[in-house]
Amino acid sequence: MVLLKSPEEIAIMREACRIVAEILEELARAVRPGITTDELDRMAEELTYRKGARPAFKGYKPGDVVYPKTLCVSVNEEIVHGIPSGRRLKAGDIVGLDFGVVYQGFYGDAARTVAVGKIAESAERLLRVTREALYCGIEQCRAGNRIGDIARAVQEHAEGAGYSVVEEFAGHGIGRKLHEDPQVPNYFRRGMPNPRLQEGMVLAIEPMVNEGTARLRIMKDGWTAVTADGKLSAHFEHSVAITGNGPVILTELDANV
Ligand code: CO
Repeated sequence: MVLLKSPEEIAIMREACRIVAEILEELARAVRPGITTDELDRMAEELTYRKGARPAFKGYKPGDVVYPKTLCVSVNEEIVHGIPSGRRLKAGDIVGLDFGVVYQGFYGDAARTVAVGKIAESAERLLRVTREALYCGIEQCRAGNRIGDIARAVQEHAEGAGYSVVEEFAGHGIGRKLHEDPQVPNYFRRGMPNPRLQEGMVLAIEPMVNEGTARLRIMKDGWTAVTADGKLSAHFEHSVAITGNGPVILTELDANV
């Protein structure tokens, strides 16, 4: 069931999402060779409580294994849900930071992939195209369009650049829960559920784009998804409200709401 949000609820979600955006910005600035992924996680958690919010991911248990940390940190061939550890980032790595909070009963969720020091030009291109694919999807977030319009826009941009999109994970509605209906896949096939977009929907759109195969495997920790061929993967995510004035990117630092 899709829950529509009133303008008042969207205003609260904007506050939750602003906190996410501010903290992600600080984390991205802190990324440098030598920092451990646990240090980034601790930073995220401290900043979350300092801003009066709670971590959205810590303690989350959709399946058998509870997610143990505040932040997801996915390095290089890790696609999503990398668990922070003592691992030290090194120059040339790319690192996905995926982060959410709960604030006044509402969730915010966003992600970006950033460079550690200087990275290969091919990696720069993967980051750029994945971010662009997210914005292609956001552009479709208009009442009257359908979920498939978002999916197709993301997929066409990523595949048009020679990359593949991950199918096992999708974006999602977001609100009083982290994951609400509808699902927002990053690919479209005939016969898929294809609900119409309505004013008041808030969607987390999150393309995961791979250099090589779209196939993945899950590591023994029960969470970390890695590319089946070991090639790079990038992930960008925004929480986006569908309004009478078109899409509003709630997790953008300078969203005009
Ligand atoms: Co999400």
